[in-house]
Amino acid sequence: MYTDASVYRRERDAVFARQWQLAAFRAQLQAPGDYVRHDFAGWSIVVVVQGDSTLRAFHNVCRHRAGPLVADEHGCGTTFVCRYHGWAYATDGRLRSARDFGVDDLDLDAYGLVGVRVEEWRGLVFVNLDPDAAPLADDHRGFFAAFADQPLEAFSYSHRLRHAVDVNWKVYCDNYGEGYHVPLVHPELNREIVAKEYRVAVGDHFCEHSAPARDGAINTGRWLWRYPNLALNVYRGGMNVERFIPLDVSRTVVVYDYFFRDLDAHAENAEVVRLGCEIMDEDRAICEAVQRNLESGVYETGLLSPRHENGVAAFQQWVRESLSL
Ligand code: FES
Repeated sequence: MYTDASVYRRERDAVFARQWQLAAFRAQLQAPGDYVRHDFAGWSIVVVVQGDSTLRAFHNVCRHRAGPLVADEHGCGTTFVCRYHGWAYATDGRLRSARDFGVDDLDLDAYGLVGVRVEEWRGLVFVNLDPDAAPLADDHRGFFAAFADQPLEAFSYSHRLRHAVDVNWKVYCDNYGEGYHVPLVHPELNREIVAKEYRVAVGDHFCEHSAPARDGAINTGRWLWRYPNLALNVYRGGMNVERFIPLDVSRTVVVYDYFFRDLDAHAENAEVVRLGCEIMDEDRAICEAVQRNLESGVYETGLLSPRHENGVAAFQQWVRESLSL
């Protein structure tokens, strides 16, 4: 399940092509023509603001011979021009012109970009490749309800950090799903919280983590993970939005987007980022070691702690359900 490329290919179709994926933030998408490119599990999607400020999303794939339209992660423009032969598309996806193609009556309407569903929740923009997926608000109802008392709109976007991790995406999700490892892997975090009382509550395709904080702790607030690959960590002074984005069967990029209540609180914000990066480095080291051991072929199956690893069990069950196993 963690090393076989054919399993990963099935997960692409059964998990990532079916589930809502966080693709962008409204803070990046304000004026008509503002766009964000989001790549995940081999797909590349462009989300773009329309003239009436609604959003549309398209595959970043030209209808001529599959060239890419957008290379930047974000930008603003009135036209997407394919980088291969120069076909030009309007921001609503219609083909405007096919440069020097040699056919006078080419039916431009027949070659618009392929659309993707896009929906928003409290400044977070999600896409879904499945035209039949349940609406975002229904699908994520329990997860979103857990943030009802959190002042997400009071936070301003700060910056993004990317962490390359040589693991199958599920190794990283398994790791996020439990606090059992905290005393051994995260010594500084272990001084901030009472790890013995770390608990994970399982909801409908999401898990809520909690642990009593010690005095002066940064890591107070709410940490929630949503199947398959999103975590929202809300702290006193802001939040860190985490995505575990698969690149292939054994490579994942962990993307952190930081938001802060006060962007000018430099010292306090820097401390949040420093501790977050330290925890990330510790998780990367242990997860990459686990991946190497899984690839060695020695390990077949183990067992999960009923006290600490109920979140891992739930995640693994949801993967099996997605794959009809
Ligand atoms: Fe886009 Fe040729 S592939 S113009």
